[in-house]
Amino acid sequence: MLSLAERAVQVLTTADGRAKCALSRAHAADWRAARAAGTPLPVGKATPPDAPARPERPELLDPRDVPRRRPGSPAGRLALLHAVAHIELNAVDLHWDIIARFTDHPMPLGFYDDWVKAADEESKHFNLMADCLEALGSHYGAMPAHAGMWRAASDTAGDLHGRLAVVPMVLEARGLDVTPGMIDIFRKAGEAGPVAALEVIYAEEVAHVAYGSKWFNWLCGRDGTDPKEVFHSLVRRYFHGSLKPPFNEEKRADAGLPPDFYWPLTEGADTGA
Ligand SMILES: [Fe+2]
Ligand SMILES: [Fe+2]
Repeated sequence: MLSLAERAVQVLTTADGRAKCALSRAHAADWRAARAAGTPLPVGKATPPDAPARPERPELLDPRDVPRRRPGSPAGRLALLHAVAHIELNAVDLHWDIIARFTDHPMPLGFYDDWVKAADEESKHFNLMADCLEALGSHYGAMPAHAGMWRAASDTAGDLHGRLAVVPMVLEARGLDVTPGMIDIFRKAGEAGPVAALEVIYAEEVAHVAYGSKWFNWLCGRDGTDPKEVFHSLVRRYFHGSLKPPFNEEKRADAGLPPDFYWPLTEGADTGA
């Protein structure tokens, strides 16, 4: 019986997007079934790769070299779906990586329940985006994508608090800010398929941010530290740049992210330092 950490490494070392997501969903179903039966799979230990396996396509370019297209045009909307597919594939790996990377930190099983569920949902999201691309005669890999998406993971590979602060609580929270605008673009274009897919993504991402703030607060509570202060110092250390308003205050609140966590990290904020 493979441990959860070994399963995570299997996903991380699978290059093809559809195959990665199929394996991810199968492992998530096994974990859930074993938990429901009261016989949880062992978390175990395994060494995740420094960076996950990726397919030959898309070509990964420096963000400055990725062509920009007007979102109002059909090509621009296709590029937007492709960019979201790329983000979702990266998110699948991010969630399996946090599972395998930090097994030296004793965490409650609920920590693994949450990240397995998040990884399962990201796999569904990638499939939804890949389906949308294919319905429009394209596919994931048909255009270049951002390199450097793994940077936040590499930077925080030795710091669980930092990983939670930067990945779910900054990067995934940013998704809550920008997704309604994307949904609008497709709604205005009358493209019902992408609207429905992005609405699923938007609804499910709130929980991923919430898992981040829940476990971040839990760790700080165990350490006896002030979560807000620790969050500010870790984001300043690991995240390159300031946070950009406007924020989705309502969904951030649903996810357990209060304004005094993120506003002080915006450009020109009085940090009180
Ligand atoms: Fe997602
Ligand atoms: Fe997510």
